[in-house]
Amino acid sequence: MKIAVIGTGYVGLVTGTCLAETGNDVICVDVNEAKVLKMQNGEVPIYEPGLDVLFHRNIAQGRLVFTTDLAAGIKEAQIIFMALPTPPGGDGAADLSYILGAAKDISKLVTEYKVVINKSTVPVGTADKVQAVFKENTSVEIDVVSNPEFLREGVAVDDFMKPDRVVIGTSSEKAKKLLLELYGPYVRQGNPILFMDERSSELTKYAANSFLATKITFMNEVANLCEIVGADVDAVRKGIGSDARIGKRFLFPGIGYGGSCFPKDVQALAKAADEHNYDFQILRAVMNVNERQKIVLVDKLLKYYKNDLKGKHFALWGLAFKPETDDIREAPALYIIQELVKHGATVTAFDPEGIDNVKALIGDKIQYSSNQYEALEGADALLIATEWSVFRNPDFERMEQTLTNKVIFDGRNLYDLEKMIDLGYYYNSVGRKLIN
Ligand code: UDX
Repeated sequence: MKIAVIGTGYVGLVTGTCLAETGNDVICVDVNEAKVLKMQNGEVPIYEPGLDVLFHRNIAQGRLVFTTDLAAGIKEAQIIFMALPTPPGGDGAADLSYILGAAKDISKLVTEYKVVINKSTVPVGTADKVQAVFKENTSVEIDVVSNPEFLREGVAVDDFMKPDRVVIGTSSEKAKKLLLELYGPYVRQGNPILFMDERSSELTKYAANSFLATKITFMNEVANLCEIVGADVDAVRKGIGSDARIGKRFLFPGIGYGGSCFPKDVQALAKAADEHNYDFQILRAVMNVNERQKIVLVDKLLKYYKNDLKGKHFALWGLAFKPETDDIREAPALYIIQELVKHGATVTAFDPEGIDNVKALIGDKIQYSSNQYEALEGADALLIATEWSVFRNPDFERMEQTLTNKVIFDGRNLYDLEKMIDLGYYYNSVGRKLIN
């Protein structure tokens, strides 16, 4: 099939590349000339495991091309994906100007039937708004469809190629038929394509992310309580996760959820409920607890150092909001850094992929190290904010030589408690016994 993808951000680029991989002809359109030029020259603009192989293969096969020319991009396309930003506006509600603007531009160019798919996370009712833009500006028949993405950064290619489900919101039989054909190759293993109305589809995305954020937040609170009552969150996690109704996944406590989706989507859903005079109480609690959880390590440090962090120097392992990504949006590490600097402490940070992005954001507020062990030099303690695999089994002997004290505050529960006792560390993790 012939497909256009408008917007080559994270979602657009993964979507376009993975659609090309199953034999479709994909044109990706973006307004950013420098970025388009880079991609035309074979440069992948983001770090996402597995994406580069597919990207290069499909460019070489001529199935994946890039342009800034919207008219050329959509000319032949039967299906147009819009993967555009929906940043939170000043009031927390999603800003739809990019989407509505693109719809208007497209509406002035179309000459024949097309399916326009909205991939971005948008408030309920957006498909209707986009459809109205087309009605207003063209007499050509256009079906606007809601088709939210559920891609996790770090495993986005796999998530696209083998989705747990595909959700499609449309009332058009014609669009339905085209999309069944398009997504067929991705659900051969039997996972469902779920057709529903546009509004339910839009709400599904917010509800899924908010539910997952709530699940994590619930476990974070259980972990905090474990510390107080002397229980072990690992045991509790296994104990409840074995119940199929609860499930084992997404129960890992830590220093709060971050990233470009959960914080934004929880906030937007709460806001949408507000606008309909519905007080979504759980979501308010989730947001409050997560704010607190992001600086739980700092609270522990303040307690340990008797409220005086002035002149203390900390090594920080992990900046990205989660492993296998360079994305630092809403990363708990940033909040930790902000608090530490506020309290007069200094920080040297290491992250396998996130350093450049943090440097661009906060510059020399902290120091950076390109080596996880060198980052420990002269540090009073090590703080762990992201569970990168390289942190899971470090050379503890080498660490001892550089750390001033054998003190670790671990926000991701990476180490075995017995091992830390044997090694003689002070080890403070989340929801588990304090080793000292
Ligand atoms: C999420 C959704 O999973 C995806 O379906 C959606 O489309 C986009 O948002 P992503 O933001 O890439 O994906 O990351 P995800 O792996 O879901 O993790 C989100 C946050 O939750 C991270 O900050 C992570 O550290 C945290 N998390 C996750 C936990 O703290 N504990 C867990 O058990 C799982």
